[in-house]
Amino acid sequence: MKPSRGKLPLPIITVVICAFAIIALLYTERITSPSPNSILRFKSCSRKKHTPNSSDRDGKNDLDDPEADEKFDFDPEECSIVNGKWVFNSSVKPLYTDRSCPYLDLQVSCAKNGRPDSAYRHWEWQLDDCVLPRFNPKTALKKLRGKRLMFVGDSLQRGQWQSFVCLVEHIIPEDKKSLHRGRSHSVFKAKEYNATIEFYWAPFIVESNSDLHIIGDPRQRILRVDSVSKHAKHWLGVDILVFNTYVWWMSGLRIKSIWGSFANGEEGYEELDAPIAYRLGLKTWANWVDSTVNPNKTRVFFTTMSPTHMRSVSLYPHLLDITNPRFNNHIPLLCRSADWNNMDGIKCYNETKPVMKRGHWGTGSDKRIMNVVDSIVEKMKVPVTVINITQMSEHRVDAHTSVYTETQGKLLTQEQKADPLRHADCIHWCLPGVPDTWNQVFLAYL
Ligand SMILES: *[C@@H]1O[C@H](CO)[C@@H](O)[C@H](O)[C@H]1NC(C)=O
Ligand SMILES: *[C@@H]1O[C@H](CO)[C@@H](O)[C@H](O)[C@H]1NC(C)=O
Ligand SMILES: *[C@@H]1O[C@H](CO)[C@@H](O)[C@H](O)[C@H]1NC(C)=O
Ligand SMILES: *[C@@H]1O[C@H](CO)[C@@H](O)[C@H](O)[C@H]1NC(C)=O
Ligand SMILES: *[C@@H]1O[C@H](CO)[C@@H](O)[C@H](O)[C@H]1NC(C)=O
Ligand SMILES: *[C@@H]1O[C@H](CO)[C@@H](O)[C@H](O)[C@H]1NC(C)=O
Repeated sequence: MKPSRGKLPLPIITVVICAFAIIALLYTERITSPSPNSILRFKSCSRKKHTPNSSDRDGKNDLDDPEADEKFDFDPEECSIVNGKWVFNSSVKPLYTDRSCPYLDLQVSCAKNGRPDSAYRHWEWQLDDCVLPRFNPKTALKKLRGKRLMFVGDSLQRGQWQSFVCLVEHIIPEDKKSLHRGRSHSVFKAKEYNATIEFYWAPFIVESNSDLHIIGDPRQRILRVDSVSKHAKHWLGVDILVFNTYVWWMSGLRIKSIWGSFANGEEGYEELDAPIAYRLGLKTWANWVDSTVNPNKTRVFFTTMSPTHMRSVSLYPHLLDITNPRFNNHIPLLCRSADWNNMDGIKCYNETKPVMKRGHWGTGSDKRIMNVVDSIVEKMKVPVTVINITQMSEHRVDAHTSVYTETQGKLLTQEQKADPLRHADCIHWCLPGVPDTWNQVFLAYL
């Protein structure tokens, strides 16, 4: 997308870029939305505690829910985790803090990194029709007894892994647990339970030249969209696999993809639009699962897109020097927080409340990617449980690490904190925080 720029002053260019971004979005939505995959599949529950009568459910957004005891017990087959709302409850305390849990990365330890507000830790995702059980560490460890659980994916998946480890580790005595961190494979052991909770780094799931040695410039990255075995050999023998991949595909550029073999190797790439390349990559993964996984032994989960609240398509905002015209064309970086009507906001910086509007959906979640996941998972032989976190997380503009994070191993400096347009991270999530709710759902499915 290259809006013509002429000699317009910067604010007008900004508006034009935003407008183009929105038009592009609406356009792609219009052409994809009639597909049956994008229609919410929602079955109503069969088990009730009380007979509800038809009082209005959708119109209300009040804090206490008079219908709470009329909801169904959670049943993975029957309950939609997509339809719900965030409810503030100051008496809800996270099971850990970034000081109590020794396994959290600096990147996500917001409170320790100086985040002054704490309300973001006291919101609960309440489903419209069912009661989502709270996360119970004992239940979790019992379910994992004698098993290997592995999270596979990108840094957001690493967040979910660390959240899971922190949610359970505090009930395990010091000498009965350990964590080994590796470059691409990290293993938490709960010895009494003979259980492991592992993370394997594969940001695209499929292989790329940017897996272990990350290439900062997205234009230099080349993906082997038909190849997963180098990573997948580490997934063999795992009892519970949880995958994700999204944000790395969203550089805003076409994806340099190779498949098959070429005499001239990586030079044989083709540039594909992200949803096309993503479909090829995910199909490669699906084929591996279907041909390798024994569904009687192994359970497979897939975590959907973790929304970004950047209003920018780049993973590396610091590379996108807004004064550099080379980058300006395709990045609606200056659109600020327009996605949720905070025209004075800078990305997710300083946000302290979720967006409460039902069904809120910003430009940081690409519906085309969701459609790819829907359509591929649907056709797989091995059942894959989708942990559909996108809608619930879309609301949580308040829960990103923002400027309370690190870059290259160092906390942001005061100068960097003072420049949130460039430095606020609105991709990753504070812990404790939203990924705890993803794990609450995951455990309810397990
Ligand atoms: C709902 O139930 C209450 C109490 O049983 C009753 O008074 C009310 O009329 C019912 N409302 C509807 C719409 O059925
Ligand atoms: C808030 O959390 C407390 C403690 O978990 C619980 O007893 C109470 O029902 C919750 N309130 C609401 C409105 O959900
Ligand atoms: C521990 O779990 C592994 C699989 O993760 C299994 O192979 C092994 O037999 C288990 N050991 C015990 C003592 O249960
Ligand atoms: C899984 O178990 C079912 C029922 O016991 C059996 O029919 C099926 O062949 C098994 N599948 C595999 C791949 O072992
Ligand atoms: C962010 O919040 C702080 C503290 O509430 C305030 O002092 C500051 O002016 C805010 N910054 C912006 C850019 O809104
Ligand atoms: C996840 O939820 C969204 C609505 O938020 C829906 O459009 C999508 O089909 C769901 N995806 C899957 C794979 O269930």
